Amino acid sequence: MQLIDGKSTAQKIKQQIAQQVDEMIAKGARRPHLAAILVGHDGGSETYVANKVKACKECGFKSTLIRFEDNISEDTLLQSIHSLNNDSEVDGFIVQLPLPKHINEQHIIEAIDYRKDVDGFHPINVGRMMIGLPCFKSATPAGILTLLETYNIPTRGANCVVLGRSNIVGKPVAVMLMQKAIPGNCTVTVCHSATPNIKEICRNADIIIAALGSPKFLTADMVKEGATIIDVGTTRVPANTPKGFKLSGDVDFENVAHKCAYISPVPGGVGPMTIVSLMQNTLLAATHAIY
Ligand code: GUN
Repeated sequence: MQLIDGKSTAQKIKQQIAQQVDEMIAKGARRPHLAAILVGHDGGSETYVANKVKACKECGFKSTLIRFEDNISEDTLLQSIHSLNNDSEVDGFIVQLPLPKHINEQHIIEAIDYRKDVDGFHPINVGRMMIGLPCFKSATPAGILTLLETYNIPTRGANCVVLGRSNIVGKPVAVMLMQKAIPGNCTVTVCHSATPNIKEICRNADIIIAALGSPKFLTADMVKEGATIIDVGTTRVPANTPKGFKLSGDVDFENVAHKCAYISPVPGGVGPMTIVSLMQNTLLAATHAIY
C-alpha cells in the first residue's frame, strides 16, 4: 500500500508557482491577486479561507479577505461581487460556501465574472469543462486528477466509482475522469443516496472517489484488493483533542488501507490539493492563460 501524500505534492507545486511568480515580477508584471469573500463564522469555512490566504503568501500572491456577518443581505453581497468583477487589480476571487440559508447560492455563483471564477463554479466554466474546452476547473476535482497523475495511477479503461453527486466534487470529478484525456478515459459510475447496490458496485472498482461527507462510509468489504482510494470527506467529529474535534474522512482508513494499492489520508490527502488547484487557477487568471 502506498500513501498518497497530498501535503508534500501540494508543497512542491506551491514552490513551482512561487518561482514562476518571481520570474513574472522580474519581468515587471503585477503580483497575482486572489480575493476571498467569507460570510459568517462557520469553523470549517474560517479554516479553509485562512489556509487559502496562507497558500497565497507561499506562492507570492497578494490576497484580500473580505468578511461579512451572516445577516448580510443578498443585495449587499452582490454589490461586493460586482465591485470585485470590476476591480482590475483583482485577478480572481471566490465566495466561500456554504452561505447562510437566506442567500441564494446560485445567484451568487452566477454573479461572479466567469473570467475571475477561479473556483470553477460558474455555469460557463462548468459547461466548458463538460465539453473539454479551456476553463477554470473546480479545485477539488482538479486536485484529485493531479494526485492520480503525480502517482502514475493508471486511469485508462479503469472502473472508477464516484460516491456522491455534489456540484463541487462528485459531478465534476466524474466528468473529468471520463474525458478522453490523461488522466481520464475511465469508465465512471456515480453512486448516491438512491443507489441500491453500492457495495457491489464499489467491489468492482479500480478507483473509488469517496465524496459523500459520511464518516467511515467506505468499509473494507466494499473494496477490491489493489484498488486506489481517494478520500474527499472532511467531517468534523467530536474527539479528545485541544479543539474538541478531528476531521474524519469517508473511508474507514484503518481497515481499508491494507487492501489498497494507493490510498489518500484525511487530513493530508485531497485537502491541500484543493488549495493548490485554486492557486494554479489564480495564476492562470493573472496570466490570462484561459480568458
Ligand atoms: N466550500 C467547500 N469547498 C469549497 C471550495 O472549493 N470553494 C468554495 N468557494 N467554497 C467551498
